[in-house]
Amino acid sequence: MSRIFINYRRQDSEGYVGRLYDHLTQHLEKDLIFLDVEIKPGADFVEAIESAVQSCDVFLLVIGPSWLNAADEQGRRRIDLENDFVRLEIATALKHNKVIIPVLVGRGQIPSANDLPEDIRAFVRRNAVELSHNRFAYDAGRLVEAIKTMMPARGAKGRVAPDVLSEKQARIKSVRDDLVNATNSPLYQVRVNNRYFPVIGEGSADANIMFIGEAPGKTEAETGKPFCGPSGEVLDDMLRSINLKREDVFVTNLLLDRPPEKREPTPEELAFYMPFVDRLIDIIQPGVIVALGRFAMDYLLRKLDAPEKGGTITKLHGKLIKAKLPYGDIHLVPLYHPAVTLYNPSQKETLRQDFQKLKLFI
Ligand code: URA
Repeated sequence: MSRIFINYRRQDSEGYVGRLYDHLTQHLEKDLIFLDVEIKPGADFVEAIESAVQSCDVFLLVIGPSWLNAADEQGRRRIDLENDFVRLEIATALKHNKVIIPVLVGRGQIPSANDLPEDIRAFVRRNAVELSHNRFAYDAGRLVEAIKTMMPARGAKGRVAPDVLSEKQARIKSVRDDLVNATNSPLYQVRVNNRYFPVIGEGSADANIMFIGEAPGKTEAETGKPFCGPSGEVLDDMLRSINLKREDVFVTNLLLDRPPEKREPTPEELAFYMPFVDRLIDIIQPGVIVALGRFAMDYLLRKLDAPEKGGTITKLHGKLIKAKLPYGDIHLVPLYHPAVTLYNPSQKETLRQDFQKLKLFI
């Protein structure tokens, strides 16, 4: 999902595009930004361009001072040539009705429609942004903000109508009821003997971002709320850093009851609770699932059959992993578990930086 395609002419705006690319990669995931279409030897370049442009959501059409009149060795305007890449890319973006933002650099201007081949004329009506030399960072920042609002990432709230929301809430409650009555749960006796609550999860049934941790701790089991102890304070701090509150997201765990003695989940416990967690995912249908810690990451990579499965959290933390669920495309984002920062404070900065990536989906 959500890719940005940068269309530009080297001889016209290479320097500006390099600067823009650096700026975009500081604020957006690098993998989402498409700069030069890679066309393998022997490949059909029209098809290669078609597939690259088709998979993007926002098409940046960079226009510098010589964009219109850039010519080939024989003095022909490149834009008039049928196999000109810039033209082919723009025509494809128009054909697929992509969001096109003309980006004016180096005093480039929107050409007049009459000066353009027919198949790309329509772009001149698209509202342009200017990246001026003196205010480049400021202008580029505004462009990033505009791009974010155009990405089809679904907001944290208001994705569904009120009646659908109530139905989702009722279905979450039925997950809870089923768990409360599941006397065959490997942790049922621990719950009853300690007068613990099951911890189903908390937040919006309509959330686009769903966090999945490992298992409730003591405080969580005593209150029935996920992440309300020291790890929860870290989680709240991270959410605040990207202007989110608990009610904007949904937070749950792989195990929905507390295992005794702070130990790791056993395979038997994981197998028992997974169908409940899967039901929660199916009900909430998040566009982004954030795995907090390696247990959640391992489970989700396997569930999604992602090529990254078997990878370590050290390698995969902060990555946006694209995957499919029956209800649609999602991103899996593995992050370090907040508890890690409690005994290794230097990891807090890493977690904070990784959290910034979630801004893309807000
Ligand atoms: N750790 C978790 O994984 N989940 C909680 O709810 C609390 C701590």
